[in-house]
Amino acid sequence: MSTALSHAPVLSRDAYPDALAPLAEVVGSELRAPLVGGGEVRYANLDYAASAPALADVASHLNEVLPYYASVHRGAGYASQISTSVYENARAIVRSFVGGRDDDAVIFTRNTTESLNLLAGCLPARGDVLYLDVEHHANLLPWQARPHRSVIAAGTIAETLELVRLQLSDGGVSLLAVTGASNVTGEVLPLATLAELAHEHGARIAVDAAQLAPHRRIDVAGTGIDYLAFSGHKLYAPFGSGVLLGRPDWLDAGRPHLAGGGAVREVRLDAVTWAEGPARHEGGSPNVLGAATLARAAQVLGGLDEGLWHRHEQQLRAALIDGLSDIDGVTVHRLFADSEADASSEPSAGGAIGVVNFSVAGHDSGLTAAYLSAEHGVGVRDGRFCAHPVLRRLGLASGSLRASFGVGSRLEDVERLVGGVRQLVEKGLGLDYVVDAGRWVPARDTRVFPDWAPNTPGTAGAAPCSTD
Ligand code: ALA
Repeated sequence: MSTALSHAPVLSRDAYPDALAPLAEVVGSELRAPLVGGGEVRYANLDYAASAPALADVASHLNEVLPYYASVHRGAGYASQISTSVYENARAIVRSFVGGRDDDAVIFTRNTTESLNLLAGCLPARGDVLYLDVEHHANLLPWQARPHRSVIAAGTIAETLELVRLQLSDGGVSLLAVTGASNVTGEVLPLATLAELAHEHGARIAVDAAQLAPHRRIDVAGTGIDYLAFSGHKLYAPFGSGVLLGRPDWLDAGRPHLAGGGAVREVRLDAVTWAEGPARHEGGSPNVLGAATLARAAQVLGGLDEGLWHRHEQQLRAALIDGLSDIDGVTVHRLFADSEADASSEPSAGGAIGVVNFSVAGHDSGLTAAYLSAEHGVGVRDGRFCAHPVLRRLGLASGSLRASFGVGSRLEDVERLVGGVRQLVEKGLGLDYVVDAGRWVPARDTRVFPDWAPNTPGTAGAAPCSTD
């Protein structure tokens, strides 16, 4: 059995000049990954869509804030005042990052899932929620507890818009909930058109921007988005924060998301007057470090040259798709025939972000992911990506592979993945693999974790979303 690595570039580097180097420094960019059977390589992190690495600037800001970390809204001390100011100012930074309206509420949550659950608790009593089948579970499950209807997206965006229009046309929808970019294929939806459609029919629009916000400038006010949700952990600020931004009326009238201290104006033993504004939904001590780091990430991304940002990502995407498409048996999956933009063009409303979904004929996706990790030091996600309906519709009910990247990525990451897949197809696996706790793993895994990290066998498959 051979563990020889195929490191020779398989792509013509001249074709992707803006993808050669990272666009911004991320923590862990030089991390070494041991290979099963010996040796090590620089870890090729191609799993940004699940959790992006922290920006170096975000990590240093965390260290800058930490000495001043203290209670927010609850103390007269110097550090408390600074922490409160950092927390409250983070709202304005986030609002400006996504082009929010002056009166939009900016509520800090744990993540996109919590943001959308919060919004679901504030919907008016009348009217359905309408969503597409292309959503990941965070933008499906919160609505299923409400009166709802869904659209099975068609083969093109144009046809899908017609289906949405049809559903909206009876005036019975109060909220259209859509993703900005698919977490499965990266394809971007036409948000301005969807917002216009919703508004024409008396509905509002909520955008799940978990995947879009780390990749594209968003203009909430200009696009007509009523509510926007996204997560710090996909926005290079993995410190437990998320955001729900949007029109304040429903939010101020809705039930408080977390009943507790800070969410109230007056409490008696048998009665309470709830606060309005973001505080209404932020009961308990807020995550000031999460908000501060998310705001810093927003500032860094907001300062990027938009054209370069777009070219860096589109060239990485083109390189990956070109490389994979050249390998026998590899299929790159798309939802819509009319979604792909010209990779060389300036930022546009359409196209796709740095998320590429594929499968390799005759090779189980979980086993392929384990092989890429063990034999090539490449991290990708496999399975159903917490988006079961869309995987079923794509005919991928048993799962597929997803490579995703961002500002810390470089062409060499893509080359390593393409080289690994090519080697698999041409030479097969270099090692034996077995299923352990639902995950494929090398039969004899020689990799060791750092001293401080627990290495508990079987934990890789323990979380329901890790394979799902
Ligand atoms: N939505 C996250 C992902 O796509 C969990 O990986």
